[in-house]
Amino acid sequence: MTDLLSLLPPGSDVDGGVLRISGCRVDDLAREFGTPAIVVAEPALRARAREYREEAAKRWPRARVVFASKSFPATAVQRVMVEEGLGLDVAGGGELRSAVKAGIDPALLVLHGNAKSTDEIEYAVQAGAGLVVVDNADDVDRLEAAVPLGSTQGVLVRVVPGIESSTHPHVATGQIGSKFGLTPPAAKALIERIERSPRLSMQGVHAHVGSQILDPSELAAAVEPLAAMGQFPVYDLGGGLGARYTYDEHPPAVADYLDALLGAARAHLPAEAEIIIEPGRSMVNAAAATLYTVTTVKRDARNFVAVDGGMGDNLEVALFGQRYEAALAARMDEEPAEDAVIVGRHCESGDVLIDGIRLPAAKVGDLLVVPATGAYTHTMANNYNGYRRPPVVFANEGQARAVVRRETWEDLFARDV
Ligand code: LLP
Repeated sequence: MTDLLSLLPPGSDVDGGVLRISGCRVDDLAREFGTPAIVVAEPALRARAREYREEAAKRWPRARVVFASKSFPATAVQRVMVEEGLGLDVAGGGELRSAVKAGIDPALLVLHGNAKSTDEIEYAVQAGAGLVVVDNADDVDRLEAAVPLGSTQGVLVRVVPGIESSTHPHVATGQIGSKFGLTPPAAKALIERIERSPRLSMQGVHAHVGSQILDPSELAAAVEPLAAMGQFPVYDLGGGLGARYTYDEHPPAVADYLDALLGAARAHLPAEAEIIIEPGRSMVNAAAATLYTVTTVKRDARNFVAVDGGMGDNLEVALFGQRYEAALAARMDEEPAEDAVIVGRHCESGDVLIDGIRLPAAKVGDLLVVPATGAYTHTMANNYNGYRRPPVVFANEGQARAVVRRETWEDLFARDV
């Protein structure tokens, strides 16, 4: 079971059979904050942010790391990124508002979206967002209406680089036919329009190939099509590096990914340009684990171990067939004894967290930990079956604090009119 430590947040260990995340025993965490809970090892999160910033700076003098907020848009997580010197990429008005609350220097904000509303564009302009990534001509209409004459808004234009990646089709965005951005000829025409606009400052081009990409050459392949768009002060190469979820996956290290990406930049982009990268999943996934309590155990056609969460706090399995690993978090030293199916509490057959895993014989009340749940869990959590979305707890060398509380029953009715 100690194998699981390689998937748990760096700094995790086992103390008398009980898992500790950044010095916090999971049984204590469960007592104090309840389960399910998303537990983030704060030092690991900070270390990863620093690793990204330092490795990028080593390879490109004007590199800027911008955290893709959508992967974990808790204000406290955005604040960690701000404190570690990163910018924030936001997809829409909600993430934009929490970025402002997290204390971002607005100049380091990058606003994305294929369907930005007039309100969102007006708010971004008023907040002083450094870059708005234009996805379509309607964005330009709205920006021209929102920017007062005499000031200018920096923009990037999102280009479809025409790259087929080997990731799940639902998270592939670089191929022709993607709903995001414009094909190079259409992007060129829009760039000419932006260059003529007195209210817009054409800063550069952007591409995002897709998410959970394990081959860095697929990400680096976006550089050449962007270079072919012309010379600009800024090139935003998006995010997309894959994270490790299972024992047999070995995604590239940040350094290897940046070698490939910025190596391609050296070959094709102007040396004085600023390069932006937007990591999300690979920034936050490893720093967190989700803690559940076993609610029922049914040894029948299969050994069903049901927990107190599921697709209400983790949609990755239902949406993308993501595979996870798990362990009984207070019985870490025990040998596996049976094949189990870890299922959630929701009224949906697809609400299976792990379809087949070797575990010690689970019993009601056991704690179950699922590692590598930092990315796209909290952000896509939902209220299906009246589920109260779980808290986010920061563990920091023996000290724990909730940075997002669990929803209350009252929260469930807060929107009733
Ligand atoms: N930049 C842009 C413009 C993006 O659209 C994304 C992710 C990122 C950066 C960050 O990509 P990452 O480094 O996290 O791969 N909901 C899906 C993931 C969708 C990703 C969307 N875009 C999921 O649950 O897996």
